[in-house]
Amino acid sequence: MKRSNHKAPVMNNVNESINQIKESNRFFELKSGFGKKYLIETHGCQMNEHDSEKLEGFLSQMNYVKTDAREEADLIIFNTCCVRENAELKIYGKLGALKHLKKKSKDLIIALCGCMMQQKHVVDYVQTTYPHVDLIFGTHNLHNFPALLQRTLEEEGAIIDVWSEEGEIIEGLAVSRKFGIKSFVNIMYGCNNFCTYCIVPYTRGRERSREVMEVVREVEELVSNGTKEVMLLGQNVNSYGKTLEGNVDFSDLLIKVAEIQGIQRIRFMTSHPKDLSEKLIETMGNIREICNHIHLPLQAGSNKVLKEMNRGYTQEEYLRIITKIKNRIPEIAITTDIIVGFPGEEEKDFEKTLKVAETVKFDSAFTFLYSKREGTPAARSSEHIAEDVKKVRFQRLKKLIDEIAYYKNQQLLNQTVEVLVEGSSKKNPNIYTGRTETSKTVNFPGDPSLEGKIVRVKILDAKTYSFDGEVKEVLS
Ligand code: SAH
Ligand code: SF4
Ligand code: F3S
Repeated sequence: MKRSNHKAPVMNNVNESINQIKESNRFFELKSGFGKKYLIETHGCQMNEHDSEKLEGFLSQMNYVKTDAREEADLIIFNTCCVRENAELKIYGKLGALKHLKKKSKDLIIALCGCMMQQKHVVDYVQTTYPHVDLIFGTHNLHNFPALLQRTLEEEGAIIDVWSEEGEIIEGLAVSRKFGIKSFVNIMYGCNNFCTYCIVPYTRGRERSREVMEVVREVEELVSNGTKEVMLLGQNVNSYGKTLEGNVDFSDLLIKVAEIQGIQRIRFMTSHPKDLSEKLIETMGNIREICNHIHLPLQAGSNKVLKEMNRGYTQEEYLRIITKIKNRIPEIAITTDIIVGFPGEEEKDFEKTLKVAETVKFDSAFTFLYSKREGTPAARSSEHIAEDVKKVRFQRLKKLIDEIAYYKNQQLLNQTVEVLVEGSSKKNPNIYTGRTETSKTVNFPGDPSLEGKIVRVKILDAKTYSFDGEVKEVLS
């Protein structure tokens, strides 16, 4: 087994490896009549989804073709998440199930990457428990994947290369896009906030922003290849620019991106309430291309819990921001993340979370049971909440969130909304799907000519999580 923790000069190796693997795959294809196949399974957030797109970019350069069937894959990659314990347990279950495939086909390569691998105890556990894993790398050396894959193909034993620290931002990686219509763009990496429950700052390193020109160049290229909507990604987009020279902030970046010819919609994720500026609210109000939607994680409604979480705002401050946003952009949709059962949360604290949810009337919310993450400050608390208490509170919150969402969605019945058409539904190829600016999912009968178009859809049925309707007009 080889383990390394250094940052070697890598880009030359990477290009060389891409060429060598490509040649060898071409030869394989000539001999066998079919190409080598890969399967990537992605867990976790949009950061991981986007990282998987980068891996797909490398793989297509190396002449690998995609498959959805594990049995026919020559390379299986799990891009992992560890934000909550059940995300990790799922991966272990899946790894166990791959044992028999590896037995059948010795040439199958099994690789693991992503946030879970940034934890030493996980890598140690995988090495001892799942010896059929061939390659492990982390979030900081994804750009080195082709060189690592080449070593895995050529050398005996597993290759393990996880960097404990982030390096410099590497620009210009090959990225294969999953959707032409909607694309993710990283504007920053890492997080400096250290919310006391959260593992992300440990798995993604310190916050660093990409240069404005790099982001603009990437969006321009996407738009010229058919992208209509970009999602700008960062763990806390409101602190964009802090690591850059000069005086540039997130609003300045949004203005530059909106100037790009042909861009129709701009979204971003995630906004941290403590860093949300009036300038951003103004910019959102002023620029047509920025969608009327903000995802603003509340996490908890009690000031005691918010303080223990190290969130940097109070309930009153959160509500003040919401009022300002609603006053400036009345039609905005507000969504959130909430954690239930943080250590020390009492019934009266939880009721404050319910109260805030009722006051704000979120359009939707991701609700989570607090999950203990090794290495985070909250994990060391002596006041963990019993699972059954957490679960009851979770159900109460979920019920309230769903009721509010259903009630709000009913207001759209018989209204006509603008939808960017993304494609057909997996279950029924005649039903098309897309989102409103407010990020609500709308389904309607359609045909392939609608893909990528903005259409006006009359809402005929409003449910808790989606709408059904019919197209009235094609706008662009
Ligand atoms: N940077 C983003 C989101 C990061 S993780 C933000 O700050 O909003 C996505 C969500 O997972 C978080 O908003 C939080 O609600 C949830 N989460 C993170 N750690 C968790 C934990 N230990 N237990 C339960 N939920 C957690
Ligand atoms: Fe985690 Fe907090 Fe950073 Fe979000 S802001 S990634 S919740 S530490
Ligand atoms: Fe995302 Fe999970 Fe990592 S939420 S940043 S993939 S721990």
